[in-house]
Amino acid sequence: MKRLMVTGGAGFIGSNLIKLILREFPDYEVVNFDLLTYAGNLASLADIEDNPRYSFIKGDVLNAEAVKKAMAGCWGVLHLAAESHVDRSILDSGPFIMTNVVGTQVMLDAARHYNVERYVQVSTDEVYGSLKLNDPPFTEQNYLKPNSPYSASKTSADLLVRAYVKTFGFPALITRCSNNYGPYQFPEKLIPLLIRNAMVDEAIPVYGDGQQIRDWLYVEDHCRAIMTVLEKGKLGEVYNIGGNAELVNLDLIKMLLAELGKPESLITFVKDRPAHDRRYAMNASKIENELEWKPIFTPEQALPMTVRWYRENSDWVHSVITGEYQKYYNKQYGKKDEG
Ligand code: NAD
Ligand code: TYD
Repeated sequence: MKRLMVTGGAGFIGSNLIKLILREFPDYEVVNFDLLTYAGNLASLADIEDNPRYSFIKGDVLNAEAVKKAMAGCWGVLHLAAESHVDRSILDSGPFIMTNVVGTQVMLDAARHYNVERYVQVSTDEVYGSLKLNDPPFTEQNYLKPNSPYSASKTSADLLVRAYVKTFGFPALITRCSNNYGPYQFPEKLIPLLIRNAMVDEAIPVYGDGQQIRDWLYVEDHCRAIMTVLEKGKLGEVYNIGGNAELVNLDLIKMLLAELGKPESLITFVKDRPAHDRRYAMNASKIENELEWKPIFTPEQALPMTVRWYRENSDWVHSVITGEYQKYYNKQYGKKDEG
């Protein structure tokens, strides 16, 4: 049995990833290391918390001692913990630099200390900046040109990982993925915010002209890609991950409103996000050709599945909106705090 440390496992992608590993990758046990910020929600893992191959440690990636303690005995590391929301990084970039940049340095040093065999840095397409309408999709060769404090902090982390590979021969891989959607996403991001607002007939805020383009990928496909890179990726390499599914924000919003049976009159144009990236699109041919990964789900299949999930899990959404979810840790784990 190989032990994997997953950081940020109580977040959106991390919780989906841990469930996928427990379900489909029987050779691994998982240590979930997460600070439980506003974005961390242990209720998302309630159905697997008693699994003998799973354990949870509450801790901060900025706390080197706590990280070291949690990483002891780990064969590999999947580093997802991050501040992840662009709008928050515009309001206050401090936590983004600390968690995303300094936290990555702490993770890298601990992983070097233990000589972990494989370390995956989970990054984002946003490090490449913005595309014009007729530009080809991003490849791994594109310049890194981040435009928000969030994407600048993720880029900085990627550069640190690269430097550890070059300087120390550190066994890292970097994945850069496009926008994810699916179950357990915090309702500050476009799709869960839209579904939640529409369900209670509240306005859907659309930034600027709504003509921005994102390349959408169902979260389970992203999680499978992370596992593919962990198991088959070539050390030191970067892999783009994308859904090959570019959608204009306004078109996506209208599709979702139709699926929800809600009127387009809920659409409310609001002030644009500063330095709002116009278009992201990923060329994922490297991971597709070299590692034989490709997405299983199209938005036509997985957007309705996602709407259904939020409809059937209104308790989860309600507990996030009310803040009730933040009490879950003390209820389930007592007040034991290891980091
Ligand atoms: P999220 O915000 O839902 O979850 C982040 C998790 O990290 C939370 O559980 C939070 O408690 C934890 N965390 C934050 N600060 C921490 C700290 N200092 N120490 C320990 N844990 C901490 O994010 P997500 O959407 O699941 O994204 C996960 C990763 O994937 C991030 O690195 C993000 O940059 C990357 N990514 C996300 C997307 C997307 O569309 N959501 C796309 C590409 C890449
Ligand atoms: P978001 O989910 O924040 O992801 P990212 O900015 O990392 O791509 O936003 C997706 C797109 O939707 C982006 O172009 C910003 C836009 N958006 C809105 O128009 N209204 C909103 O309320 C939100 C949260 C996002």
